[in-house]
Amino acid sequence: MTDSDIREAVREMLLANTHEGWSRKFQTEYCYIQPSPGTYPYQYFWDTCLHVFILTALGEHDLARKNMLSLFAMQEADGFVGHMLFWSRPLPAKWTDFFQGKPSRNLLRPHMSALVQPPLVAQTVQRIYDGTRDRQFLETMVPKLKRYFDWLGTNRDFDGDGLLSIITPFESGMDWKPTFDEVVGFNHGIANRRLFWKVVGVDARNFLHRYNLATLYRKDHFLVKEVGFNTIYAQNLVALADLCDALGDADAGTYRDLSRTVVEAMIAHMYDEETAAFYDIYTRSREKIRVLTPTIFFPLVIRGLPQDMSEAIIARHLSNEEEFAAPFPVPSVATNDPSFDSSESEYLWRGPTWVFSNWFIYQCLYYQGYRAEAEVVRETILKLIRQSGFREYYDPYTGDGYGAENFTWSGLVVDMLNIDGGDSADSMTDKL
Ligand code: GLC
Repeated sequence: MTDSDIREAVREMLLANTHEGWSRKFQTEYCYIQPSPGTYPYQYFWDTCLHVFILTALGEHDLARKNMLSLFAMQEADGFVGHMLFWSRPLPAKWTDFFQGKPSRNLLRPHMSALVQPPLVAQTVQRIYDGTRDRQFLETMVPKLKRYFDWLGTNRDFDGDGLLSIITPFESGMDWKPTFDEVVGFNHGIANRRLFWKVVGVDARNFLHRYNLATLYRKDHFLVKEVGFNTIYAQNLVALADLCDALGDADAGTYRDLSRTVVEAMIAHMYDEETAAFYDIYTRSREKIRVLTPTIFFPLVIRGLPQDMSEAIIARHLSNEEEFAAPFPVPSVATNDPSFDSSESEYLWRGPTWVFSNWFIYQCLYYQGYRAEAEVVRETILKLIRQSGFREYYDPYTGDGYGAENFTWSGLVVDMLNIDGGDSADSMTDKL
């Protein structure tokens, strides 16, 4: 497959996974892309954003716009948008999804979940605007984005330090991320059924507390400030500020200042100088959870991060053969971590290589000037796709493809193909 074959195959896959229809309940048309028709049937929050990155890289701006409008079609009055929108599928795909919605009399027909996912939504609107200069779209979306980010700040920054907390592992988007083992009370190691029950227990308890956030904060069953989520939050506050500027909206400054506060808090509380890594922390105690996963690299995407910090993180971990330098990097946890398992498993994000992580780290390395290292990360993905097709995740030793098939996220490779020197790279660097 040449690069252009890959582009066309990705386009075909996204179009084949597209679902459009009319919602009687919301009196609106909807349009979304299933990440994988058999395994993941809904509209998912951050998946939608990843689809928009892919679609805009392919020049499919119309479809991208429709996906974003659908994502916000059910936005609640206070700004909230759930991480799964069920549209025409009233019944959960998995019984465990049931606990991720608020209990209501409409139990069998909840319209969306009560969870959030990493907030990539301002960057995606920015991408669409950059490609279309569609001011009307911007005028429609910016007020929705502002309400969404205001909801996050008001409801998830429990102690006012700027950092957001997640209330279940699933909100990280990296469902079984090994960082969370000790938080849920699982003996950090290879996943098994006990971990399953511990994690489902978190959702069940949140459900029983009716997702009342004041209660969840008080009970403190699971409250984590996660590095990936907060990096994306900081990045997207800047994107939102830029969008406000484009509309002459005076709130731009507020979002830009907030982004700075978030980054400062990340450096103060998540960074560990001794081991040169950003770690997820417990919300209340701010204690670091010292597990090496790809999110230790994520803050490198932030403009203005002290250079000695980014140099130390890369030098110490990226090409360390005991950690992330597997034959097909970057594994979803360091290979010397007790939880590392390279094989196919229902416990996602505990060893295999994901296109998403490489896409994110590619941007970090590229913009920090580590072009050769960035190239390795991108070439890995091209090799994996050529060898094993568009799969959910891959074996970091053999490159075998695992999990869902025709998995859309692997299409992020087309975005990596676009960030390649020349004009587009320069304009993207300006965005960070
Ligand atoms: C898995 C992923 C999550 C994603 C969902 C749908 O649960 O871990 O991030 O949103 O699948 O693709």
